[in-house]
Amino acid sequence: MTTHQIVLTGDRPTGPLHLGHYAGSLRTRLALHQSHRQYVLIADNQALTDNGHDPDRIRRNIVEVATDYLAVGLDPARTTICLQSGLPVLADLTQLYLNLVTVARLERIPTIRAEIAARGFGRAVPAGFLVYPVSQAADITAFGASLVPAGADQAPLIELANEIVQKVNRQAGRDLLPTIECLLSTAPRLPGADGAGKMSKSAGNALPLSADRTTIKAFVDSMYTDPGHLRVSDPGRVEGNVVFAYLDAFDPDQEEVAALKARYRRGGLGDVPLKRRLAGILNDLLAPIRERRGDLARRPDDVQDILRHGTEAARAATAETGAAIRAVLATQKLI
Ligand code: TRP
Repeated sequence: MTTHQIVLTGDRPTGPLHLGHYAGSLRTRLALHQSHRQYVLIADNQALTDNGHDPDRIRRNIVEVATDYLAVGLDPARTTICLQSGLPVLADLTQLYLNLVTVARLERIPTIRAEIAARGFGRAVPAGFLVYPVSQAADITAFGASLVPAGADQAPLIELANEIVQKVNRQAGRDLLPTIECLLSTAPRLPGADGAGKMSKSAGNALPLSADRTTIKAFVDSMYTDPGHLRVSDPGRVEGNVVFAYLDAFDPDQEEVAALKARYRRGGLGDVPLKRRLAGILNDLLAPIRERRGDLARRPDDVQDILRHGTEAARAATAETGAAIRAVLATQKLI
């Protein structure tokens, strides 16, 4: 099935992608890419909003993230992979949209509040960081995208983007921009090995997509299970048990997972065979990705070429809508 809905997603290139990205968004993109026109944006300018002191970190990770996309199987013939900083129209629209949004509105966005708190910014939040939701609205609208698959934390940003869409359309006197639908990920947040929070590179609990068999085994062995489950014969807890959270997310045989949970709860099933099962499943999942990644890592110029072509295609794809939005909001039509 092909629909006319345009899909846009993005990632900040702050590090190589990990298994949490795979469970939360890469899997969805692989599915959507069969049926939709899809753009995937490497949001380097957005990544700079809290890394302004270290552009080199972002620079280094652009090709890493592009390599991850290709390694998981996104086909550049079907999904356009592009670089935010290579699309000046996005910066241009951001500047225009900033005039339609108040500081108070931005400060109320729960996602931004949480991120400011997590980074300990307080009042010293970089101005660019506070307004990144506006730049994200520019990303989405420039592509004429109407479907954004994302986690629940992104929903308030889509709400803001839709307010901007309404303002632009009101000023245009017509439906220039489509309403944006957030396709909420049904996958529960994948916890890190410690079970303390979601998997994230900064928390040091992430499994990169490039992990080899030994790394996978060590990662699984370190997983938090049930500290009260001392002897194999003891009843064990499934809730909060990281191994089961991963089996839920990745085991192709969910009937077997249900049976294993029942046995674990009853007592008589130890952590060791469960961890062995999970390590095997993760290795089966990551082995082909790792192999393609290894191959691509040997030809970074090819990856750069794919990114360059994708960005050129994205420039063409955003030109018309970009010009139409400028014609409404700016004092002068550029070019
Ligand atoms: N904020 C997103 C993230 O942190 C990245 C992003 C940038 C994005 N532009 C976007 C997501 C446009 C969806 C649509 O992962």
